[in-house]
Amino acid sequence: MDADGTILSDIVLSQLDDHRPYGGVVPEIAARAHVEHLDAIITRAMSDAGLDYADLSGIAATAGPGLIGGVMVGLMTGKAIALARKKPFVAVNHLEGHALTARLTDQVGFPYLLLLISGGHCQLLEVTGVGAYRRIGTTIDDAVGEAFDKTAKLLGLGFPGGPAVEAAAARGNPAAVALPRPLAGTDTCNFSFSGLKTAVLHAVRDAGLLSEAGRADMAASFQAAVGDVLADRAARAMTQFALRHPGPHTFVVAGGVAANQALRSRLATVTAAQGFALVVPPVRLCTDNAVMIAWAGVERLRLGLSDDFTAPPRARWPLDAAAAAAGAKA
Ligand code: KG4
Ligand code: ZN
Repeated sequence: MDADGTILSDIVLSQLDDHRPYGGVVPEIAARAHVEHLDAIITRAMSDAGLDYADLSGIAATAGPGLIGGVMVGLMTGKAIALARKKPFVAVNHLEGHALTARLTDQVGFPYLLLLISGGHCQLLEVTGVGAYRRIGTTIDDAVGEAFDKTAKLLGLGFPGGPAVEAAAARGNPAAVALPRPLAGTDTCNFSFSGLKTAVLHAVRDAGLLSEAGRADMAASFQAAVGDVLADRAARAMTQFALRHPGPHTFVVAGGVAANQALRSRLATVTAAQGFALVVPPVRLCTDNAVMIAWAGVERLRLGLSDDFTAPPRARWPLDAAAAAAGAKA
């Protein structure tokens, strides 16, 4: 990526086929795949960009949070290049990559309200600057992407679950199965998805052998429940945000689950009703990618922020350390 955010190369190597036989991500396979493929991907990215290492003004690599094997491989590789070429190094928080993408795609200014929905997280954050995040809500149990993946598994829709549930839901009736809206209407901005997951499990069990149409109805009903919960919690957060910050207000949705078109339109309705502008990056930049990490690196280098080579790989790394220390799940 250029210093002005022009994307010079955008390679995503999916490991999904390696993990599919196991119905989920296997940490050991993920770590090995990083070792096997990373060098070739970096070489290809440099050639796509038409650059030599000497042309680079800095190196950014993910330092967490995530499965530690893959994080270690990427972080060590990034440090090695920076050390050999004497370039500034930036250890990027994966979640910050998601959080700042809207500034790359839509030039969103600070502050904004962020809904971060991915395989490992479901959080509402006030973003007031690079590195300045205040968490105002989080899941007290499962992440929303996890709920999609588990529902897909229950319905036999395969892996990864999110896109499979979305496709099935498009053919189903969202009112077919009565499912709960956990924590909706309560006076925090927190989320809970484990009860919804259990309700789907019971509904599937009660239904017996599901037809294709039955599975579509179940997927649509699940997705509608998720949409209602996200919309309810987001509306509450928008009200709070508007009290603290003068307008105009922007609501950003990011993370892999933000790729879901039905959830996007559900959130668009509530955002408009609250008088906020909605920004959701294109699907390709919502699901995990290297562009967002490069962009977070650009943002940090612009501010003169870089890291030394002692920056550790981290399995857990909350964006808002103060909120994480207070107890709720990061
Ligand atoms: O951000 P991401 O690519 O990786 C993490 O950082 O976790 O998010 C992955 C999650 C997975 O749980 C996946 O099932 C979900 O995002 N996801 C979706 C869709 N595409 C990906 N969930 C719902 N609908 C989608 N279209
Ligand atoms: Zn992610």
